[in-house]
Amino acid sequence: MSSVSIPLPSRRATKLLARALALAVKPGDLVIVSGPLGAGKTFLVRAALRELGLPEEEAVASPTFSLVHDYDLGLRLVHADLYRLGGVEELPALGLSEERDAGAVLLVEWGEPYVAALGGDALAITIRVRPGADAANETSRSATLEASGTRSRAALERMRAALGA
Ligand SMILES: Nc1ncnc2c1ncn2[C@@H]1O[C@H](COP(=O)(O)OP(=O)(O)OP(=O)(O)O)[C@@H](O)[C@H]1O
Ligand SMILES: [Mg+2]
Repeated sequence: MSSVSIPLPSRRATKLLARALALAVKPGDLVIVSGPLGAGKTFLVRAALRELGLPEEEAVASPTFSLVHDYDLGLRLVHADLYRLGGVEELPALGLSEERDAGAVLLVEWGEPYVAALGGDALAITIRVRPGADAANETSRSATLEASGTRSRAALERMRAALGA
């Protein structure tokens, strides 16, 4: 079974999910973070980067406009937001596949259309905001974790262990 559902009743819960993600990722992992605008995708990635040792004084800007930010925290991580990407033909210019091949962890918002182009085998974290709920309401979220290959199933199992889920 490679799917797990996690309630996110508070920002604190999302931070715990981020801690589990930080413990789970290994070089070359692809993590697709999905969910509607304002779901908390950047919040989750930011918290995971903090868990991995990014100092508080270093800001984590959303890559909404720059599309890609990278971090060297011993482990190399690349945070991308592909919402504004024009299509798969624009993907190679970002160099994400090369980064992945070189051992970086890719944390990608709005990345579902590009999973295959990024090499597949993705750990998908999908944040749901309950229909009709205000996105600022802390009580309305949950996340589903799904794996689509051997590597991502291993990451999912590490996450599940870290979460006690
Ligand atoms: N349980 C929660 N988990 C995460 N974020 C929460 C939660 N409850 C409230 N929030 C708030 O929701 C907002 C999420 O914003 P964020 O930029 O992370 O969204 P996003 O999914 O990256 O949006 P976009 O699609 O625009 O990139 C933040 O202001 C955060 O404080
Ligand atoms: Mg975002």
